[in-house]
Amino acid sequence: MSKLCLGTVQFGMKYGVNNALGRQPDKEECYEIIEKALNSGISCFDTASAYGTAESLLGEFSWGRLTPHIISKLSPECPNDDKAVAMKIRKSLQRLSLTKLYGYMLHRGADMQKDAVMAGMVAAKEQGLVEKIGVSIYEPEEALQAVDDNRVDIIQIPYNVLDKRLDKAGFFVKAKKNNKEIYARSSFLQGLLLMKPDEAEKRVPQSGRFIAEFQTIAKAQGYTPTEAAMLYSLCNEGIDYVVFGVETLGQLVMNLSIQKKVDGFSSCYKDFRRFFLDVPREIIVPSLWR
Ligand SMILES: NC(=O)c1ccc[n+]([C@@H]2O[C@H](COP(=O)([O-])OP(=O)(O)OC[C@H]3O[C@@H](n4cnc5c(N)ncnc54)[C@H](OP(=O)(O)O)[C@@H]3O)[C@@H](O)[C@H]2O)c1
Repeated sequence: MSKLCLGTVQFGMKYGVNNALGRQPDKEECYEIIEKALNSGISCFDTASAYGTAESLLGEFSWGRLTPHIISKLSPECPNDDKAVAMKIRKSLQRLSLTKLYGYMLHRGADMQKDAVMAGMVAAKEQGLVEKIGVSIYEPEEALQAVDDNRVDIIQIPYNVLDKRLDKAGFFVKAKKNNKEIYARSSFLQGLLLMKPDEAEKRVPQSGRFIAEFQTIAKAQGYTPTEAAMLYSLCNEGIDYVVFGVETLGQLVMNLSIQKKVDGFSSCYKDFRRFFLDVPREIIVPSLWR
């Protein structure tokens, strides 16, 4: 079973810090990418009602006899009302042409405080509309709250070689102990880790030296930035799925081939665990990028 989960925000709207394609891939390109992913052992797809046309696009894809694990997310605008949650889930199921979702997450950690929203999520699971419920977080505090919440089955986290916040908080040990299924996104930091350092510096001030150091260490150990960035997340045993995004079939094919290099990456992995222990938030939190 592949540890990769294909993210779909790139399919539903213009996205990415670099956006090499300069546009959103069209439906035919998206279906080529999904087809190739399925034929390469990927059976898990991450989407959300907030990702533009992504849910409908997945809903119109002919999956045939396959029953992929599709995870969607509650719109951040949802009122604190369990009936509103039920309506939102049914709308997502409709767009996805599904009767049941493998997973449904809050798209905002703060919604864990909303009793009626959480009651709606739990009720949807009891009614068999979703198999697992959870939350997609941005901040370590939210991750630690979710890990101790026994209503939560699945948690999506931002994670990459420059972002050691969750390692330092002991998140992965707690998550394993509490049987949470962990999905890690942003291995490429939305593409920033793969950019030329001076280009990254223009886009995210102060990031250039960290990108340069990361790429120098990777090169010294015989890895490209794309390989090292994805392998770093794939090697973390506390992560069940690595959620990644692509705009082109070429990017997908490259990322698929990287999985085969996991075994040889352990010494480089140990090195990267020792570096980048205190990278400023302004660099590792995309919502803070200007
Ligand atoms: N709060 C949330 O729940 C949340 C937030 C963000 C994302 N997500 C999910 O996570 C998925 C992944 O998004 P992410 O933000 O985490 O991005 P990511 O995987 O860190 O980076 C994806 C970007 O990297 C670039 N890229 C990917 N493969 C490449 C390759 N082989 N060579 C060169 N460039 C490559 C592409 O951007 P360019 O072509 O533009 O360089 C792509 O858009 C999304 O689709 C979505 O499903 C969830």
